[in-house]
This record gives sequence, C-alpha cells and structure tokens, in this order.
Amino acid sequence: MIDFKNVTKIYGGEVKAVDDITMSVNEGEFVILLGPSGCGKTTLLRMVNQLETITDGEINVNGQNVKEMDKIKMRRNIGYVIQSNGLFPNMTIEKNTMIVPDLLGWDRKKKRDRFNYLMDLIGLNPDEYRKRYPHELSGGQQQRIGVARAMASDPPVMLMDEPFGALDPIIREKVQDEFLTIQKEVKKTILFVSHDIDEAVKMGDKISLLRQGQIMQYASPTEMLHRPKNDFVSEFIGKDRVLRSMSLYTVNDLVEALGLKSKEEDIQDTKEITIDTSLRVALSMLLNKEADELLITDDQGEAHGSLTFDLIETFINREVRGA
Ligand SMILES: Nc1ncnc2c1ncn2[C@@H]1O[C@H](COP(=O)(O)OP(=O)(O)O)[C@@H](O)[C@H]1O
Ligand SMILES: [Mg+2]
Repeated sequence: MIDFKNVTKIYGGEVKAVDDITMSVNEGEFVILLGPSGCGKTTLLRMVNQLETITDGEINVNGQNVKEMDKIKMRRNIGYVIQSNGLFPNMTIEKNTMIVPDLLGWDRKKKRDRFNYLMDLIGLNPDEYRKRYPHELSGGQQQRIGVARAMASDPPVMLMDEPFGALDPIIREKVQDEFLTIQKEVKKTILFVSHDIDEAVKMGDKISLLRQGQIMQYASPTEMLHRPKNDFVSEFIGKDRVLRSMSLYTVNDLVEALGLKSKEEDIQDTKEITIDTSLRVALSMLLNKEADELLITDDQGEAHGSLTFDLIETFINREVRGA
C-alpha cells in the first residue's frame, strides 16, 4: 500500500535526514516509525504526502508514484494528523472537521451525515460540539477532532506524526485506546510517528525503528522485543523489555496458556478485572497492591476464576522469556 524504494532525503545539500530507506506498509496495517529525536521520522512521513520533496528514490501509494499525484487527490486519499492538532481557531468544530469535504465539494447533507458519524466514532456528541470553537475543548478532545478531520473524506491511508504526544499520560492512554477501537472498525493503512516505545508496542502491528535516517529493524512488536536485531535495538527497547511485552498479552492469553485457577479461599483483597485487560495492567494492579488477587470476569460481569502474581510470573517464564 505504501512502498518506499531506496528513499533518501538530503536537506540543503548536506544534512542526510533519510538514508536509503526501503520498506512496505501493507493495506490495513498500522506501522509505527519509532526512534530518537532527529532520526528522520517526520521527514520520512512528510515525503509521503509531498510536504517534503524526495531527494532520491521513490514512494508509491497504492501503486502510484506520489510525485505524480495531484494535491486534491492526495488530500482525499491520505489523512494527516500532527501533534499540535492544526485546528483553525476561528472555525467551528464542524467547519474544521469538514475542511477536506468542503474542498471536494460535498453537499450539505453528505457533510452533515459524515460529521455526525465521525463525532459518534470519536465519542463526542455532534450536536453539542458542532458550533463550538477549538479553544472551548480540552486538549484530548481537540486531538480527537484532529483525528476526525483527517478521516473526514474516508482516506484509505493515514499519516500521523506524534498525534498524542502533547497529551498528558492518562488522557493519552485513553485517546490511544479509543483510537485502537476506531481502527478495528475502519481498518486504515496507518503510518504513525512516535518516539515512545510503549506507545509503539501498544499500537503498532509493526515497528520500524530508525537511527540516523536508517532502519535498524522492521518487525512486529513481539519480534522486536524477543529478537532485537542489534545492540541499538536492544538498548532502545531497554531493560523493561519483559514488562513492556506484557502489554502484548491479555488475561485471556494467560488463561488459555495456563488454564483457570479457582479463587483462593483465604484471600481477602480482591478486585475484578475483565478477561480482555492487558497483562501489563493486571500486573501493575497487583504490584501496586490494589489487590492480592484479581477476579477474572467476562463482559457479562460473570466471574471465571482468579489471577495472582505467581500465575503471571509463571506465564512470563513460560511464554515470554521462553519465546
Ligand atoms: N527543513 C529542514 N531543513 C534542514 N534540516 C532539517 C529540516 N527538517 C529536519 N531537518 C533535519 O533532518 C533530520 C531529521 O529530522 P526529522 O525528520 O524532523 O526527525 P524526527 O522527526 O525523527 O525528530 C534532523 O537532523 C533535522 O535537524
Ligand atoms: Mg518529528
């Protein structure tokens, strides 16, 4: 879907920001460009939608060379979200969201329907927010509007440059979760810039880890965590590797691997946890002593056994370290 062939970018004849990158993002895939500041992530992204020229090599989107695409077609096919959401302060939320449909000449009814649909998707009431201005919304809400705007014309491809980077950690988690839920429904092809390994592991189907304009490893989060290709990758992923990889598993994965354990009679402190919760969340609840044992419930709220620290440890030793 997005193919980079030997792509190089040199700024001002001397700064090599991107150095001979070849990689492909398949249709419906969520790929993270990860790496330290200055490694060329933003440059790589901005060459896809022609915000930067390509010094050497070629980028194809859906088989078409981006150099040959016209700007309007590009806006329709590629949604773009940036950290400072880029909303126009003097335009209402509806107007901001419908910028591309306006450019494309959609009629009123079609625009209104689309706005209502998108607002429902991002969890904001369309009638409540339609006539408001960006400054009347919280940072998290503005960022969600930025996402809705990028999806307005239903582009198959989304480019996102640290879209949640400016949000505080708790709100960021929430917006990430929401976005993952949306992605399950809309299945866009996404290229997403991040410098946060946790975000990358949580969100990406694949991670492309960059350093000085070159790809150090391009692999799934599991692959990268378990088989880092070189010292740079293992150092970037860091010592919390095992802990990080816990966010790849859910309580259900543990139950499937180890079976269910019935609740221990003598334990007092229990808390409920749903079966689709990540093991990382479960582990931190146990480590923070929120409970000695977690009662595993399904989405009907029915209990199915319990989860203890020992059980997670067994799972880590068997499934995570052993992998
Ligand atoms: N417009 C520009 N002119 C000159 N150098 C630039 C420009 N934009 C980025 N660079 C340089 O290119 C390199 C990669 O930058 P960038 O793509 O922004 O990295 P990242 O997004 O990974 O932080 C850096 O050395 C940066 O200073
Ligand atoms: Mg950047």
